[in-house]
Amino acid sequence: MSGERYDPIANPYAPGAGTPPPALVGRDAIIDEAEISLRRLASARSSQHLLITGLRGVGKTVLLGKLAALGEHLGFRVVRVEAVGGDDTLRSFLRQARRVVEDLDRSGKATRALRSIESVTLTIAGTGFGVDRLDATPDREALADVVIDMAAAAAEDDGGVMIAIDEAQMLDPHDLRRILAGVHRCGQDGLPLYCLLAGLPNLVGDVAKAATYAERMFTVAELGPLSALDVGTAVNGPAEEIGVAWSPEAIEAIVDRSDGFPFFVQTWAYHVWNAARDEPVSSDDVERAAIATDHALDSSFFAARIARIPASEVSYVQAMASLGPGPHRSGEVAAAAGRTTSQVAAFRDRLIAEGVIYAPRYGWVEFAIPHFDEYVRRRLPSR
Ligand SMILES: Nc1ncnc2c1ncn2[C@@H]1O[C@H](COP(=O)(O)OP(=O)(O)OP(=O)(O)O)[C@@H](O)[C@H]1O
Ligand SMILES: [Mg+2]
Repeated sequence: MSGERYDPIANPYAPGAGTPPPALVGRDAIIDEAEISLRRLASARSSQHLLITGLRGVGKTVLLGKLAALGEHLGFRVVRVEAVGGDDTLRSFLRQARRVVEDLDRSGKATRALRSIESVTLTIAGTGFGVDRLDATPDREALADVVIDMAAAAAEDDGGVMIAIDEAQMLDPHDLRRILAGVHRCGQDGLPLYCLLAGLPNLVGDVAKAATYAERMFTVAELGPLSALDVGTAVNGPAEEIGVAWSPEAIEAIVDRSDGFPFFVQTWAYHVWNAARDEPVSSDDVERAAIATDHALDSSFFAARIARIPASEVSYVQAMASLGPGPHRSGEVAAAAGRTTSQVAAFRDRLIAEGVIYAPRYGWVEFAIPHFDEYVRRRLPSR
């Protein structure tokens, strides 16, 4: 193979957003636990729900997708939405709720569920369930009923419902409260409803704020970097299947450069494959791919984040990056920006709302994007 490139068309790695990796590693315990919850619910037993949190690119969406597929396999109808802020999230939720209910046998409960959906959807009187009418201002208070009635209708049809919300930190807090009220009620009534929320680490606090009982309803799965062993499996496994081997040194180099963050692992493995000349793939090959990988990360992963930050907030980001990876005290970041904490509070809050930073605990901030501090220091050094 020396001198030849590995076939880029056969490249098995999958850097992307929500792109299923060729080998999903390090999540077995979470998947097993979710399966137990789903099977318990399907046999009319109570269960906790699941909150998946973690930094950008750690694998929340991929895991949510995997669990949604598992739910479907176990007879659950899935309402899956990505919260984007504003009414669009709710519209999408209702549209899918309607699809789920319309798929069920038409029973009294299904009709009731459609009515609940309709009452959230429309403030104007009338019947009919056309999607085009979803642009009316929603009457949101009945959202809890939508959740309950949908689960009751599915139960009557011998199935269950899974609500899977990605980027759930973007949900309107009132909508979150209403949805959780519905989920809570389903638990009390023994209805087969499973709730899966994925989002940035602040989501745990958002959920706790939404309702006093909410914390107890959820198991929290905090996704972190993969272990060195898991990185090895994520890289080696898919290559072995097509007869390609990686040297232990090359794997070590990937562990080193990615810090185990899944998106970085996939990006590195992908570019090393395309640049590799040695057999097995060597640490020299990893070095050969460095420029292409850094370029890919800078221009996609990082640039997309910085592009969303208004100029007024960039100096806060620069000040924070100048302090290193973090977490940092809010006061120190303000000082590094040459301001007081209250002068920068609005910037900080907006950056949290935009999902660029988060507060790991009160009075502290950290980038929600791994290695973002390095990127900012390299590409946007403060003057
Ligand atoms: N367990 C895993 N093993 C191997 N690769 C993974 C794993 N989880 C995710 N990946 C890969 O990491 C990348 C990011 O995954 P994903 O989009 O799910 O992250 P995320 O946490 O949802 O990120 P964001 O916060 O930006 O939405 C994808 O390329 C995916 O293939
Ligand atoms: Mg995601």
